[in-house]
Amino acid sequence: MHLQAQILHNSKMSFETAAHSVTAAIVGATGAVGQELLKLLESDPQYRDEVRLYASARSAGKKVGFRGRQLVIQDLASADFSGCDVAFFSAGASRSREYVPLAVKQGAFVADNSSAFRMDPEVPLVVPEINGDLIKPSTTIVGVPNCSAIILLMAIEPLRQLGTIGRVIVSTYQSASGGGASMMRRLIEETEHFLKDQTHPVPNDQYPPYAFNLFSHNTPIDSTGANEEEAKVIQESRKILGEPNLKMNVTCVRVPVLRAHTESITVEFAGEAPSLDLIRRSIEGFDGVQLVDDRARNHFPTPRMASGQGDVLVGRIRQDPSHPGAVSLLASGDQLLKGAALTAVQIADLSLKCKTFVNH
Ligand code: A2P
Repeated sequence: MHLQAQILHNSKMSFETAAHSVTAAIVGATGAVGQELLKLLESDPQYRDEVRLYASARSAGKKVGFRGRQLVIQDLASADFSGCDVAFFSAGASRSREYVPLAVKQGAFVADNSSAFRMDPEVPLVVPEINGDLIKPSTTIVGVPNCSAIILLMAIEPLRQLGTIGRVIVSTYQSASGGGASMMRRLIEETEHFLKDQTHPVPNDQYPPYAFNLFSHNTPIDSTGANEEEAKVIQESRKILGEPNLKMNVTCVRVPVLRAHTESITVEFAGEAPSLDLIRRSIEGFDGVQLVDDRARNHFPTPRMASGQGDVLVGRIRQDPSHPGAVSLLASGDQLLKGAALTAVQIADLSLKCKTFVNH
């Protein structure tokens, strides 16, 4: 489903269920995900009145447009969540660890985009199309999974519905947006610099030259050789699918793309692989995923195509020539939308709907 259609679809349901305007807070409102969250709330009529915006003291006092009004960014240190129905957190794990408990104490439902609570056994980790039923009226915090995990799971869930998956092998082509607004700016500045005089600007100490380059994901490496992003994809996928022993091999790489991640995925079935036709039909019938699989035109998912879309694009579906029970595919999804902000808004919607249902 296209993003606009998805927003309308959500809004229509919200109109039917939410009589009052939902009061929301966005923590990390000046960030790359925070800005997308604000746009999504602006398109959803149930968030028609009060939205509180929080960021660091550096941004306090800045103004942002919302529904023809000017909202003022406030310092998170003075945040007040009382009266908030929903708080969206997207300001990093340490801010979440510090302020999510306050938001919950003050009565807000929290959709947390950080990794702070994702692996907490008490906190549901939710991709709405896969395990949205974990959200109950009493749920106070829901983890929004890692962006690469969301895109991977959206792509393979239609296959999982056709047979037991025994193993998943993934290589990612991750965009700058995953590193936040500063990494996106850095990629643009480096590219402009390189185009002017074919040199890279002064390197930063966090990752290698980015323009016209790619590099292994810029997160710490553990004793097994996996980086933190790879470990997150594995742990979180297993938790979301409820398959703690699922065999996975993940390689995460950053590429000089602004905002959508692409993933090359091989799915090994426990038995015989379903036919490619069946897989294509299952993908076409799965909400939130679009089949882009035109071999004749060599037309398959690209991050440019996925940018600005709510759906994850899936294609390049083919038999793995090295394994009779395995199928390979390519998926692209907007890291800022389905990989973060859109999933958070869908999670909030599920919580609001199940509470409204109970109250009636
Ligand atoms: P700010 O813009 O004031 O630094 P991104 O992931 O795109 O880098 O965004 C991170 C978000 O988290 C921004 O909104 C940023 O606000 C916010 N943030 C970062 N550090 C803090 C902090 N110490 N307190 C509150 N918000 C913070």
